[in-house]
Amino acid sequence: MDINKVKSAFAEHFGGECAVYASPGRINLIGEHTDYNGGFVFPGAVDCGIVAAIRANGERVVRAYAIDLDESATFGLEESDAPSQGWAKYIFGVCREMAALGVEVGGFDCAFSGDVPLGAGMSSSAALESTFAFALNEMFAEGRIDKFALAKVGQMTEHHYVGVNCGIMDQFASVFGKKGHLMRLDCRSMEFEYFPFDPKGYRLLLVNSCVKHELVDSPYNKRRESCERVARVLGIETLRDAEQEDLERVKGEISEEDYKRAKYVIGEKQRVLDVCEALVAGDYETVGARMYATHWGMSRDYEVSCEELDFLAELAEKCGVTGARIMGGGFGGCTINLVKEELYDGFVEAARKEFAAKYGHEPKIYDVVISDGARRLE
Ligand code: GLA
Repeated sequence: MDINKVKSAFAEHFGGECAVYASPGRINLIGEHTDYNGGFVFPGAVDCGIVAAIRANGERVVRAYAIDLDESATFGLEESDAPSQGWAKYIFGVCREMAALGVEVGGFDCAFSGDVPLGAGMSSSAALESTFAFALNEMFAEGRIDKFALAKVGQMTEHHYVGVNCGIMDQFASVFGKKGHLMRLDCRSMEFEYFPFDPKGYRLLLVNSCVKHELVDSPYNKRRESCERVARVLGIETLRDAEQEDLERVKGEISEEDYKRAKYVIGEKQRVLDVCEALVAGDYETVGARMYATHWGMSRDYEVSCEELDFLAELAEKCGVTGARIMGGGFGGCTINLVKEELYDGFVEAARKEFAAKYGHEPKIYDVVISDGARRLE
């Protein structure tokens, strides 16, 4: 995250003093598509994200400059003032959602830049939302909005201004991230716990297939609807409260597709708990085995994988990688891999070569560094 670049872009566009805020993207060790089902997730914030330089301007207008795109947007703060640029809708949505909490959001000037790879399943959009939610809270509400509410502001921005009916995981991770720690969040009670994450002798890396992933037009919302339909038939609020036997009981009343979706979610709930327990015991073989099980569940039952990601998971297994799976919403993006130190180089080389031989371009490799959540930088 390049703070100086952002400060000088601000100075060039708007001049004068500014405050600088940052929020990260996230990884998720396990617990995918469980958040909107009231289940558990196990994310951590990463060392890339969004940095924004910002200053209140005393008007009722926002002037935003997206450094990486070299695009500007100017918009007002009323519901009818929505900007047309996709990226500006996130900032506008955050302003509106903060206002809905009773914050007297005023106008501001801002310049921002990011280094979360877009469409990689690492939540670049949550990083953008959290940065602005955090900043507006300090600028216009003296910090009185609590961190969970700030995460919700980001989630509601997705629902109301972007069109993705996402769960809370990404925004939660971006706001609550803590260096060196993963977080197990119970998305029903919203209780969470930090888990120190320092797998001795192992490394965590992401392999980006570079298949573009856009949740807005993806069947993400349809997956959510499937889960909600099954929960309704079972007479429960979310699939968190269902076991496999319950699902078998209603098998005849739901479509085969919905059955498969729910089967995946019910299995995933237990896998997160297994992984937490195994981590505490230092049992990385179990962690890895559950990661593979998640991958194939997401591929065959939840059907959010793609050929390239299945190829990468198979290749990981062939190279002796302890655990590998699709990360995030799916439909493209990265796999997350837990690999023994001594196998790291060999796997990276094989992933580059074999993927390129099949798909004509190398995947991108990122080492995961677990970092802090939303904050003011100076
Ligand atoms: C996206 C959503 C999250 C979550 C994941 C899948 O990242 O934004 O809320 O549902 O997909 O686990």
